[in-house]
Amino acid sequence: METDHEPEKIGSSRRTLLTRSAAEAAAIIRRGGVVAFPTETVYGLGADAFDENAVAKIFEAKNRPPDNPLIIHIGDRSQIEMLAEEIPESAAALIDRFFPGPLTVVLKKKDAVPSIVSAGLETVGIRMPGNEITSAFLKECGVPVAAPSANISGRPSPTDWRAVQEDLDGRIDCILQGEATEVGIESTVVDCTKPVPEILRPGAVSIEELRRVVPAIRASDLDADEAAASPGLRHKHYSPSAAVVIVRRGSEIDDLKDSGFIGLESSNSTAAKALVCSTPKEYASKLFAFFRECDRAGIAKIYCEEVSEEGIGTALMDRLRRAAER
Ligand code: TXA
Ligand code: MG
Repeated sequence: METDHEPEKIGSSRRTLLTRSAAEAAAIIRRGGVVAFPTETVYGLGADAFDENAVAKIFEAKNRPPDNPLIIHIGDRSQIEMLAEEIPESAAALIDRFFPGPLTVVLKKKDAVPSIVSAGLETVGIRMPGNEITSAFLKECGVPVAAPSANISGRPSPTDWRAVQEDLDGRIDCILQGEATEVGIESTVVDCTKPVPEILRPGAVSIEELRRVVPAIRASDLDADEAAASPGLRHKHYSPSAAVVIVRRGSEIDDLKDSGFIGLESSNSTAAKALVCSTPKEYASKLFAFFRECDRAGIAKIYCEEVSEEGIGTALMDRLRRAAER
C-alpha cells in the first residue's frame, strides 16, 4: 500500500527530487527510498543496506547484474561491527590510515547483511567516504548505505549530479546535489579476508600508499579464475558509446577532425573535443565527464593517451583498458 509519505516507485513517469539538503535526502533513505549522493570519488546510488526491498530498487534502476555485490557506505566507524564478522590486523591498519577516504575493505560479512547486497558472497565491501556532505548525509541516514556508482550499468561513473540525472532521472527517488567529485575515479577495493590482502580493483588510493601500511599487499594481477573473486570485474565497465582507443604518449593522430582526445600532451589538441591535462591526477578526475561530453556531442571515437602506471596512473590505465574493451 502506498501513502503520500512513501517514496515514489521506480518508473519513468515518476519524478526524481533534486535537493541540496543532506537531511532531506537521508529521510528518503530511512523511508526505504533510493537516493544518489556525492562522494569524493564518484556519485553513488544508495539505499538502507538492511532493507532488501530498497536494495532491490538499486539493481532495477541501474540495470545492474544481480551477481555484482554492492559496497556498504558508513558514516561512523562503529558501524563496521554491524557488518563484519571479524577485522584482521591488516584491515584494522588500513581502516586506521584510510578511513574516511577512498578505500573499500572487503571483510567476512555478518549474517545480518542481506545476501542481495553481497550478491550471495560471504564477504562485504565497506567504505567510509571522506567529504563533508557525504559524511553529513550518512550520519543523518543512521543506517549503513549500500551503494554502487550512480550510473546505468556499463556507462562511465557519474562525477557530477547532472550525469546522474542523465542516466537515472525518473528511475530513482532523489539526487543529493553536491559539487563535482574531486577524485573522479572509484575507490580502491582491497580483499582483507586472505592472509595477504589483495587489491581487487585499483583506485584512488595507490598501491604505493597501501604498501606503506601493509607492505605485503598484492597487486591486482588477476587471471580469469581470480577475477571471479571480484564479480564486478567480469562485467563491462566505464564505457562511453564512443569507441575508446588508447594511444602512446606524444603520438600524433591522423583522423582527429571528428574525434575526441584526452591526455597530457598538447600535440593532439586539434581534435573535435580535446582535453589536455597537466597531471595524471587531473586526467583521472576529468576522464568520465569527458567521456560523457563526447557522447553528447555524438563523437564516435575517443583517443586516450596512456600514462605511466604509478600512483593514480595505475587506476587510470585500468579504467582506460576496461573502457577500450568491446
Ligand atoms: O568509489 C567507489 O567505490 C564508488 C562510490 C559510490 O563509493 N562505488 C563504486 O561501486 O564504484 P561499484 O558498485 O560501481 O563498484 C564496486 C566494486 C565492484 O567491482 C564490485 O564487484 C566490488 O567493488 N565489490 C563490492 N563488494 C565486493 C565483495 N564483497 N567482494 C569482492 N568485490 C566486491
Ligand atoms: Mg560502478
